Amino acid sequence: MMNPKRETRKLFPGVYFFFFIYLLVLSARFQPSEATKDSSVRQVKLQNHRLGSSIVFPVSGNVYPLGYYYVLLNIGNPPKLFDLDIDTGSDLTWVQCDAPCNGCTKPLANQYKPNRNTLPCSHLLCSGLDLPQSRPCADPDDQCDYEIGYSDHASSVGALVTDEFPLRLENGSTMHPHLTFGCGYDQQNPGPHPPPPTAGILGLGRGKISISSQLSSLGVTKNVIVHCFNHNGKGFLSIGDELVPSSGVTWTSLARNSPSKNYMTGPAELLFNDKTTGVKGINLVFDSGSSYTYFNAEAYKAILDLIRKDVKGKALMDAKEDKSLPVCWKDKKPLKSVHDVKKYFKTITLRFGSQKSGQLFHVPPESYLIITENGNVCLGILNGTEIGLENYNIIGDIFFQGIMVIYDNEKQRIGWIPSDCNKLPNLDQDYGENLSEEAYPRGFGFLGGLFSGTDSSKNKNLVSDGEL
Ligand SMILES: *[C@@H]1O[C@H](CO)[C@@H](O)[C@H](O)[C@H]1NC(C)=O
Ligand SMILES: *[C@@H]1O[C@H](CO)[C@@H](O)[C@H](O)[C@H]1NC(C)=O
Ligand SMILES: *[C@@H]1O[C@H](CO)[C@@H](O)[C@H](O)[C@H]1NC(C)=O
Repeated sequence: MMNPKRETRKLFPGVYFFFFIYLLVLSARFQPSEATKDSSVRQVKLQNHRLGSSIVFPVSGNVYPLGYYYVLLNIGNPPKLFDLDIDTGSDLTWVQCDAPCNGCTKPLANQYKPNRNTLPCSHLLCSGLDLPQSRPCADPDDQCDYEIGYSDHASSVGALVTDEFPLRLENGSTMHPHLTFGCGYDQQNPGPHPPPPTAGILGLGRGKISISSQLSSLGVTKNVIVHCFNHNGKGFLSIGDELVPSSGVTWTSLARNSPSKNYMTGPAELLFNDKTTGVKGINLVFDSGSSYTYFNAEAYKAILDLIRKDVKGKALMDAKEDKSLPVCWKDKKPLKSVHDVKKYFKTITLRFGSQKSGQLFHVPPESYLIITENGNVCLGILNGTEIGLENYNIIGDIFFQGIMVIYDNEKQRIGWIPSDCNKLPNLDQDYGENLSEEAYPRGFGFLGGLFSGTDSSKNKNLVSDGEL
């Protein structure tokens, strides 16, 4: 899958050894071939609050046709704005890098320009990563190269850099922490889908290098991530624990022996229409970097058989001609909304923990079905065994719609609670705030003009692009 012989590029000349970190992560970003890009950036209104330190970002995106949810993040001084795909399934944040760049989808002005700020390979964030193929760091000042591969076979190669992130905290303070991320100068996307249009990935996994871990080790926020994506393409992301409701959240613990840095829970049992399916003991990874949900072959077959049985004899017919997803149905007339057909479908439930006092994660039909541009309804649960996930099961964005999901790294647990994601919990209670599409001119979690982050003229003299 990965090609370790890919050319590495020095962001600065004069050093001869490379320290390579290699990561393979699960996130599988399903990109429909005719993905339309939602260029409207939604902004959300929020006033300063005397709460502790959390950072909140408005989120835009959707499961279909876009295939991802993203935030806008300012990096550098002067700050430049990047749209980043929110990924709790991987640790490393990276942005398209003007080094120069292969496989970049952004114009030069919207790429990150390194500024003699590469991270030395002797740094803890480089050497401290427990990766399978770590090479010795020959010269402590060498740049720290990385190569990251995603399970949809997309990949990014680059070097780690450190720069400031202008952030506005919920308590009204502004901070400029220096955080480490990847400057990705070689992106490949061998699959059938077009390369992701975002400038990069916001890595929020459990590893030390994830942005939330770095903010927490700097004492800025707690290592807690909250995301809330709704069906209408809006929502929020927060780092820190202030938005976590004090009651009503269903919590389940993270697996202790997770083989990776993923947010893996389990084992869970699969229920359909509140009845057992016979599928038990499945481990599930919560991964906002995945558009759809992937079940292993056994769970996939069980669910598909039950749904097919239900749909049989109803108005819906197979729509094999619709290639949007593997399993689609059509009605007599093109469908406009999942609400037109949800009567034919039942709720799927994941039960974590014991049978009697387990934690239930309910997935109503509108959170596992999509309506395609052709007006058909398709199943947003895919066969993970088919893409080589073996016994991993991934819960992706489609299941996350309409709930607040909390990744609590402080207490090693994951929580969820139904939410419309248009309002911030706690803040709404305290301040009667209403998050809507109203513009919030001061930014929201980040500083600087929301749309002014493309000026690269001030730092262009500092980088060279020597190749090996
Ligand atoms: C807000 O939180 C940050 C980080 O915890 C802290 O450094 C800062 O002093 C706080 N500001 C206020 C006004 O309380
Ligand atoms: C899921 O994928 C596996 C591996 O390709 C395949 O053997 C199995 O038949 C698939 N299941 C269904 C229901 O299509
Ligand atoms: C918030 O918005 C909803 C829907 O627009 C409205 O019904 C409600 O009254 C608003 N609440 C406040 C506190 O402004």
